[in-house]
Amino acid sequence: MSFVPVDDLLKAAEAGGYAVGAFNCNNMEIVQAIVKAAEIEKAPVIMQASQGAIKYAGIEFIVAMAREAASAAKVPVALHLDHGTGFDQIMWCIRSGFSSVMIDGSKKPLEENIAITRKVIECAYPLGISVEAELGKIGGTEDDISVSDREAMMTDPEEARYFVEKTGVGSLAVAIGTAHGRYKGEPRLDFDRLKKIRSLVNVPIVLHGSSGVPEDQIIEAVKLGVCKVNIDTNIREAFVDAVRKVAGDHPDEIDPRKILGPARDAATEIIREKIRIFGSSGKA
Ligand code: G3H
Ligand code: 13P
Ligand code: ZN
Repeated sequence: MSFVPVDDLLKAAEAGGYAVGAFNCNNMEIVQAIVKAAEIEKAPVIMQASQGAIKYAGIEFIVAMAREAASAAKVPVALHLDHGTGFDQIMWCIRSGFSSVMIDGSKKPLEENIAITRKVIECAYPLGISVEAELGKIGGTEDDISVSDREAMMTDPEEARYFVEKTGVGSLAVAIGTAHGRYKGEPRLDFDRLKKIRSLVNVPIVLHGSSGVPEDQIIEAVKLGVCKVNIDTNIREAFVDAVRKVAGDHPDEIDPRKILGPARDAATEIIREKIRIFGSSGKA
């Protein structure tokens, strides 16, 4: 089976009132865990590669692993570029087999973000490739920013309407109080902002930095129009915790498979849990 466009998955999610999990794949074990979890849950799934994953494994390796994992899958699988910033890299991903790309122009001034998003769309849409853009700055939990600065980084609903109108983008990542990485305290999503955005914008909304967001807030966000939920950190935690445990319990173990196998199982479990929270279990 070849990778399906993310937009197709998100349209079905929007109509069905659930969200599709977008899980970051960093190595072979995580690629396998994502597809296995989706198969067990009978859920559509998005595998995504970040800049860090591309630096670590390379585009071709990621595509080959993902393709192999998806080839036998009975559920729809998409391969998506996460936080693409360079036009050339985006083109390379498309040529290599990705079914979806994100152009993250969120650090640029609005009109430049619109221009680069349009440029990517012009190349991607004729090929049937989905495009996600970002408006507002999602940032990281490690960024030392005050509450008022965080507020200023959030997506402005009117600007979101203008952005979507001008670009025709397929899905939009918004800043509503989440951040990438491990939260220090409990995140509190700005649901009023999400409602406002949703009332002005008619494309599926994407939630980044979703690891560590309490279950009830994720469920509420999905109710309010979030159709794609990005998870990376929680998979890393589950994976590395398992590695530490096995290595700690068996200090003489030298077979990487005996250490990485349980880590793969731990990743599968956390991904299954997320899929159930997002409501996409049984939707394939
Ligand atoms: O943007 C989200 C990713 O979690 C960042 O991942 O460290 O692999 O680039 P990275
Ligand atoms: P977390 O690592 O916080 O789950 O964020 C993932 C993400 O948004 C990838 O784009
Ligand atoms: Zn992200």
